[in-house]
Amino acid sequence: MSLDLLSPVTLSDLELGNRMVMAPMTRNRANANNAPHSLNTEYYRQRATAGLIITEASPVSAEGVGYPATPGIYSEDQVSGWRDITNAVHAEGGHIFIQLWYCGRISHPSLLPDNQTPVAPSSLRPEGDAVTYDGMQPFVEPRALDTDEIPGIIKQYKHAAEMAQKAGFDGIEVHAANGYLVDQFLRDGTNQRSDEYGGNVENRMRFLNEILDAVCEVWPTNRVGLRLSPENSFNDMSDSSPQQHFAYFISQLNSRNLCYLHILEGDMMTKQRNVNYRDLRDIYNGIYMANNSYDKTRAQTALNNGDCDLVAFGVPFIANPDLVHRYRNNLSLNEADQNTFYGGDEHGYTDYPFAES
Ligand code: PHB
Repeated sequence: MSLDLLSPVTLSDLELGNRMVMAPMTRNRANANNAPHSLNTEYYRQRATAGLIITEASPVSAEGVGYPATPGIYSEDQVSGWRDITNAVHAEGGHIFIQLWYCGRISHPSLLPDNQTPVAPSSLRPEGDAVTYDGMQPFVEPRALDTDEIPGIIKQYKHAAEMAQKAGFDGIEVHAANGYLVDQFLRDGTNQRSDEYGGNVENRMRFLNEILDAVCEVWPTNRVGLRLSPENSFNDMSDSSPQQHFAYFISQLNSRNLCYLHILEGDMMTKQRNVNYRDLRDIYNGIYMANNSYDKTRAQTALNNGDCDLVAFGVPFIANPDLVHRYRNNLSLNEADQNTFYGGDEHGYTDYPFAES
């Protein structure tokens, strides 16, 4: 049986219009309270023909923030802004999950309450610069979390999961990819702990497992997705054996009956792939969502080959609110303007034209 990118599909108990997912993308256009507002509502409403939208990463607490103007999911203001967005997407017949985020060492004191030092599994400073309200500033050495601080962070995830329900989302995605806090625990380049959260794969996965346990007390497991990035070097990440380690992590996820497993395949920056993703996909019993520079042809080929069940598209959805319509009718695509990806106003955000129909 061949899976068609553009045909309807049932995901858990959700009837999606197609297998095209809008990937989570940071756009830095929240208001001064880190809450979403009408401009963001328009952006998501325009893109509601995606089978599923995964929102931009959304901090679970003020301590989880790591970039300017990212909309969180911990205050009433934020819930109210997101509620307008979920209503707008649902009114267009779409579906939307929110991605739960904690930046950890990728943050900067100037972005955190009381200028606190960012936290991480281990006090290893990443190479590179943080994005702050005063431009790029060198990353600082993070503070290694005490073992007894971890339950407090798990609670923040649970609270965010509750707020996501109040905001009317169809589900949540736990962001365990791309060098943010959960990923910092998973990969051995950033986790040098000697307590039960570090060392072997079982211990490195404990933080993620506790987050999944907590959010699944709020949401049915089939409305909880998870994103991993086994070999993405973004945010100065590394692992000594991604194929083997992520095979273990993924095998452990099978019993959870999650909504989907979302994999950023290869490296976000170079697009290189050394991991065999088909092997990882074959270990997983559930729905596999592939991501990282797919286009229509690559996506349909991957579906035909049984390499995935859903495909998440990023940049094409920035520039083409009607990407599904364009793919369906073989129309040409708008070019994305990289200068307006992060921050700013409606330019490069809600002003990309729809195709003439
Ligand atoms: C980013 O803001 O650059 C960013 C955020 C979340 C990701 C990846 C990149 O998962």
